Amino acid sequence: MSAENLTAAAEPTAPRRRRPGRLITLEGGEGAGKSTQMAAIQHMLEAVGIEVVMTREPGGTPAAEALRQSLLAGQFRHLGPQAEAVLFAAARIIHLDEKILPALAAGAWVVCDRFIDSTRVYQGLVDGLDPHLLDLLESVALGTMRPNLTLVLDVDPVIAMKRAALRRGTAQADRFEAGDIARYQRIRDGFREVAAKATDRCVLIDASGDAAAVSRQIETLIAQRLFSRLRLEKWRRIQQGTVDKVILEPS
Ligand SMILES: Nc1ncnc2c1ncn2[C@@H]1O[C@H](COP(=O)(O)OP(=O)(O)OP(=O)(O)O)[C@@H](O)[C@H]1O
Ligand SMILES: [Mg+2]
Repeated sequence: MSAENLTAAAEPTAPRRRRPGRLITLEGGEGAGKSTQMAAIQHMLEAVGIEVVMTREPGGTPAAEALRQSLLAGQFRHLGPQAEAVLFAAARIIHLDEKILPALAAGAWVVCDRFIDSTRVYQGLVDGLDPHLLDLLESVALGTMRPNLTLVLDVDPVIAMKRAALRRGTAQADRFEAGDIARYQRIRDGFREVAAKATDRCVLIDASGDAAAVSRQIETLIAQRLFSRLRLEKWRRIQQGTVDKVILEPS
């Protein structure tokens, strides 16, 4: 080996830095179609060669899922909404530290079913918590980090409640109490309000059409807002059917 080659061999190779991934969150009321669209987003991202981590809130890790179960079962209700909000925030910190942030740092894209905007609507609007407390908890959990894109699925209450009832297998899925409709409408308005306050990351999606129509809107947005030119080109070729299987390429 020449002296020149020896020098080159001795130089430590710099670790290849991966570009951090993106965080996409889905928001909206019950039955809006969030979980349904998660699958479509995963399919789209994987088709263009992106490593994807699918997750949800509250939960996402064993410890945070345990908190989810207790919180959703109402086991901490007697502590009052403030204490519950702190516990939701604790679950979020666990989720971010153990799953979301490491995945993003490794270059994966994370897609999360419900996130900070659901907290605003359910703990803020429904439970009536002070928005300043929610601001504080949000900055404790996230610092300055925010999702790159938030898709807010917006749908008429009757359509969403019918979907949710059908999913549960409830009979008479098309008959609702006026109070239930009013409550759903308040939640819908809450999501619209939250989205209007963060227009840089939140986009309202008309989720009243069939699942494929909603997916098309979402795919267009993700491609336009988050894809590099190379990836956009790949995605267009896939849509045109000119590529069956895309070779994984870092971007
Ligand atoms: N665009 C759509 N058109 C018709 N039915 C749909 C559509 N999207 C979802 N559904 C159906 O509606 C039901 C609720 O959808 P989904 O579970 O995705 O809602 P969600 O927003 O995740 O609700 P939740 O907040 O309760 O988890 C499911 O049975 C699903 O198959
Ligand atoms: Mg769901």
